[in-house]
Amino acid sequence: MSALVEIRDVRKRFQKTPVLDGITLEIRAGDRIAMLGPNGAGKTTLVRSILGFYHLDGGSIRVLGKDPVRQRVEVLASVAFIPQLPPPVKLSIRELLQYVERSSGVPAAAVAAEAGRMDLDLESHASKAFFKLSGGMKQKLLIAIALARRSRLFVFDEPTASLDPKARELFYRLLSELDYDYSAIYVTHRLEELEGLVNRKVYMELGKVVEDEPLTA
Ligand SMILES: Nc1ncnc2c1ncn2[C@@H]1O[C@H](COP(=O)(O)OP(=O)(O)OP(=O)(O)O)[C@@H](O)[C@H]1O
Ligand SMILES: [Mg+2]
Repeated sequence: MSALVEIRDVRKRFQKTPVLDGITLEIRAGDRIAMLGPNGAGKTTLVRSILGFYHLDGGSIRVLGKDPVRQRVEVLASVAFIPQLPPPVKLSIRELLQYVERSSGVPAAAVAAEAGRMDLDLESHASKAFFKLSGGMKQKLLIAIALARRSRLFVFDEPTASLDPKARELFYRLLSELDYDYSAIYVTHRLEELEGLVNRKVYMELGKVVEDEPLTA
C-alpha cells in the first residue's frame, strides 16, 4: 500500500543551522502517530514542511503522492492541520466560517456543531474578530474546523497546549468518537494523554528521528 506521507532524507537549515538533519519517515493509512521530542527538536518544522511551508535543502516529501510546495492547494485540501500558534486572522468568526465553507466546502453549521461539542458557543461570538478570542477559544475553533472537515489525515501541532483540563477531555473524547478511518500526527509533550488514540511513537532530537516504534493499546 502506498504511503499517505513519504518523507525521504529531508534536510532543512535555518541560517546555517540544520534543523531537519536527514529525516526519513513513512506514514501509512491507519497510522496515528505521537510525535515527541524536546523544545527545538524540529517537530514543528517537520510538520510545516509536510504542509508545504518551506523549500527543503535536501530530500523530498510527498503527501498522497503530491509535492506539498508545488501542489500546495491539493495538499492543504486533503490534510486537516492545526498549527502550534493560531494565525493572526482578522476576520470575524462569522466571516471565517463563511471563508471555510467557500474554500473547503465544510458547512458553517457543521463547524458550529463541532465547536458546540468543544463547549464553544460560536453564536455569541459571531461578530468578534478571530484574533480577539482567548487562546483556548482559538484552539477550540481550529479543532472544530479540523474535525468538521472529516479529513483522512490530521496534523495537529500541540493542539491541547492552551486548553483547560475539561476542554482537553472533550477534545480527546471527540477524537475517540470519530467513526471513520483516519490517520494522524499529533505533536505533543504529553504522551499519556494520547493513550488509546495513537499506535505509533516517533521521537525527534536535534533534527533527527531517534526512535520510531509501535505502541500497543
Ligand atoms: N522560521 C524560522 N527561522 C529561523 N529559525 C527557525 C525558524 N523556525 C524554527 N527555527 C528554529 O528551528 C529549531 C526547531 O524549531 P521547531 O519549532 O521546529 O521546534 P519544535 O520541536 O517544534 O519545538 P517546541 O517543542 O518548542 O515546539 C529551533 O532552533 C528554532 O529556533
Ligand atoms: Mg513546535
